[in-house]
Amino acid sequence: MCGIVSYIGKKDPVPILLKGLRRLEYRGYDSSGIALLNEKTLHCIKRAGKVSDLESLIDDSPINGYCGIGHTRWATHGEPNDINSHPHLDHTKKIALVHNGIIENYDAIKEVLKSRGIPFTSDTDSEVLVQLISELYYNSNQKLSFEDAVRAALQEVVGAYGIVVLCEDEPGTMIAARMGSPLVLGVGEGEFLIGSDASPIVQYTRNVIYLDDNELVIINDDNYSISKIDSKNIVTKTLTRIDLTIEEIEKGEYPHFMLKEIHDQRHSISDTMRGRFNLNDGTTQLGGISDYFSNILLASRIYITACGTSWHAGLIGKHLIEEYARIPVHVEYASEFRYRNVIIDSNTILIAISQSGETADTLAAIRKAKELGAITLGICNVVGSTISRETDAGIFTHTGPEIGVASTKAFTAQLTILIMLALKLGRKKNVSKKRGKNLIRALRHIDQDVVSILKISHEVKEVAKHTYEADNFLYLGRGINFPIALEGALKLKEISYIHAEGYPAAEMKHGPIALIDKNMPVVCIAPQDESFSKILANIEEVKARKGIIITITDKINYSLKPLSDYILIIPNTHKHVFPITCSIILQMLAYELAVFRDCEIDQPRNLAKSVTVE
Ligand code: G6P
Repeated sequence: MCGIVSYIGKKDPVPILLKGLRRLEYRGYDSSGIALLNEKTLHCIKRAGKVSDLESLIDDSPINGYCGIGHTRWATHGEPNDINSHPHLDHTKKIALVHNGIIENYDAIKEVLKSRGIPFTSDTDSEVLVQLISELYYNSNQKLSFEDAVRAALQEVVGAYGIVVLCEDEPGTMIAARMGSPLVLGVGEGEFLIGSDASPIVQYTRNVIYLDDNELVIINDDNYSISKIDSKNIVTKTLTRIDLTIEEIEKGEYPHFMLKEIHDQRHSISDTMRGRFNLNDGTTQLGGISDYFSNILLASRIYITACGTSWHAGLIGKHLIEEYARIPVHVEYASEFRYRNVIIDSNTILIAISQSGETADTLAAIRKAKELGAITLGICNVVGSTISRETDAGIFTHTGPEIGVASTKAFTAQLTILIMLALKLGRKKNVSKKRGKNLIRALRHIDQDVVSILKISHEVKEVAKHTYEADNFLYLGRGINFPIALEGALKLKEISYIHAEGYPAAEMKHGPIALIDKNMPVVCIAPQDESFSKILANIEEVKARKGIIITITDKINYSLKPLSDYILIIPNTHKHVFPITCSIILQMLAYELAVFRDCEIDQPRNLAKSVTVE
């Protein structure tokens, strides 16, 4: 949520900042801007809209400097317009700041500053922070240095922030600080970058330092130092090497990141599983949680917490863990969990699932569970992310960077990990080697299954062509596939703006059936497992109300064909692997529907990839 990139070094910062902003656009795309320091002055240029709009502005009136800060915004306080865009300047126009997060007490501080005659131009909470730094720097009786003014201002604000600040009167100095919103420092040869994630940095250096909460970094010409915000004692941090490739964060030949990431699943699920099977023993190896494995086995209950798509993975995780390991699992939205009187003790395990590893509510839920004595485990994709560092242990999904705002390959990677975890626990309990081997065989076949699914994209397109004008869609599934119905509906809402609901197929009669008529496409998830006859009956109910039936199944079946308006047949697989393959065809369907509706697939309105505010 909001992207930050900053550069200080010997190169021209403008192309570096613009490229960085393009790489970060998935974090927010309401507006963007950059501020540059040259020998004498600070220049700021910003505008509402996409980074391409900013680029045109800079093409028309080029600016230069030797260091700069950039920002792409996902609006919280103040509508997305030119004035509310970042960077924000103080009223002397000598200090510039980019901010990711929310300053909660901005109103109170603003009132005080206004009473001292300081004029404000924007509606944002971020401007309050830069004005406060300015007031403390230029007008405090204590004659604070710029660094001390930044520290003092940060100690007055309440909320979450990742910031970078520049000051015309302190040329050659860049200050960044973190409290709640991620920041990564890139340490190159005679140059430094700061990003809200590593994607704008990786092209210039692979050596990074992840800042922790309450840390501040000062970059002065060729050096950097990290300390706590509220003390000048140096904090020693180790450099981490990131193994991200440029290809992974570019679209290549694909028109959209989402399509690229759907196709990546030909190999990404295997990447997630690599080195983690023990076929002979019908089990899996998950080194990241080995220290806590016996605690999980003996746990009285497991909570799974997450947001969005990751929460849907959690619902499937519950099904799997209860099935294989017979441990009770509760799945909660992190935003609810964090404020609820949850029942947790030292026999409770909390599993937090997060692609980004930065979602604010999920992080807050982890902190709460820790405080209450639970062991916390993370299932994250981004190595070095806050959640992966704050949990006691965890498992990385290793699916590569996911840029498309609608999660695809990260979801199937999360499901893969949950299957592997459930199996590993189950094998220590009563699950037989044979059952384990069967599941592993199905998982190992998944690359070929995905290839087969991608091959029927023309059929998916055909369904989309005939249904893209619908105002509503219903998705029905039973058992382990009910969360897949929820996820299919979420994908559709996110990128095509069609209202969609996922429902347990049998529950349909208790409400949504009232909505079904000849204009309502109903996606029916109908694998030929033990639930088949039940779902078939539910499909009959839809048919009787003239709904448009789109069936997803895994074997040709003669009772399904006459009932379905469209039928998409995906490879037959293990019933616990089917949610993975089924979700891929639903991702394709959402994608094709969004293409027909001419939507901005990688940057859907109002959404952000990583939600780092509450
Ligand atoms: C945002 C994204 C979703 C994602 C959710 C949770 O809403 O748009 O795609 O599922 O955040 O993100 P996380 O990184 O914690 O999985």
